[in-house]
Amino acid sequence: MNTGLASVSRRRPETDIEWKEGARLDGLNSMGLRAAARLMAVVRTEQALSDFLEWAAEEGEDFVVLGEGTNVIFAKESLDLVVLRLAGDFEDFAVDATGITAGAAARLAALVKAARESGLSGLENAWGIPGLLGGALAGNAGTRDWAIGDCVEWVEVFDRSGVKKRLARDEAGFAYRRSALAGRVVTRSRLALRKEARERIEEAIARAAARRSGQPKGVGSSGCIFRNPPGDSAGRLIDAAGLKGLRCGGAMVSPVHANFIVNAGGATGADVLRLIETIRGRVREKFGVELETEVRVIPSKG
Ligand code: EPU
Repeated sequence: MNTGLASVSRRRPETDIEWKEGARLDGLNSMGLRAAARLMAVVRTEQALSDFLEWAAEEGEDFVVLGEGTNVIFAKESLDLVVLRLAGDFEDFAVDATGITAGAAARLAALVKAARESGLSGLENAWGIPGLLGGALAGNAGTRDWAIGDCVEWVEVFDRSGVKKRLARDEAGFAYRRSALAGRVVTRSRLALRKEARERIEEAIARAAARRSGQPKGVGSSGCIFRNPPGDSAGRLIDAAGLKGLRCGGAMVSPVHANFIVNAGGATGADVLRLIETIRGRVREKFGVELETEVRVIPSKG
């Protein structure tokens, strides 16, 4: 397929890294945007990750780490950058009596399910949050009053120069929908959980599911687009500004929950970004509040 993207001909390590030129990213974002990256590297072991990082440093190549793309917007259809994906060993996780040790490519939903089945409490609020553990940690995913960072004991990361570090929770910089992990490659984490009666766990999951019932389903979206401003709710402000149903091309403010932008058909990244700016402008005009995006925008160039 001709993606119109320049190919990369420089030396690349021949180890366990799987290289894909002009890699399609269409299935790799929950907004359902069409995109392709100049180059994708899939690593399945820590050794392959080290080799990749050495290559990227030597070649001066910047890269973005992409999991299931549940919180990302691709700025353009053609991305002149390198995408790194973790798979294989990084998908593994193990449950024991006091928690779960998991690779960054484990699905958060699988961890919630495993904790529930083992009678472990602490992850119930993550019920319904899509995506992989690494992205959830980097963005400190959660609800209004709980975030994944709350149950982290440690996080292992590789920095861009290939140095591996184990960070205690306090060193990971967790705050509301933020962490100090973005910019590094999260590879593994230990989530500390506690034994709890099955009934309590089921009740907590039912409460989490009820909170999510007011959110759009069965349609492409990236979850909440904006962080909540202190003491208020981005969804409430956007709704009160009368913006539900507003469209830019194929991107639309969800009629169900105003802090969601949904793909109403054939949306492009540019449509979504235009809609984001329109919403910010209207909310600023009407309420004097500056909304900050929660989603990560992947630029067209590395
Ligand atoms: N509201 C409206 N109109 C809307 C949407 C919401 O008036 O269209 C009002 C609601 O009535 C409520 C208030 O705004 O009074 C807050 O809404 P909601 O309870 O839905 O919570 P939220 O603050 O919008 C947060 C998280 C969600 C998380 C839910 C459930 C943020 C930015 N959002 O939403 O996280 O699922 O709580 O706990 O912190 C995400 O981060 O991607 C995300 C979806």
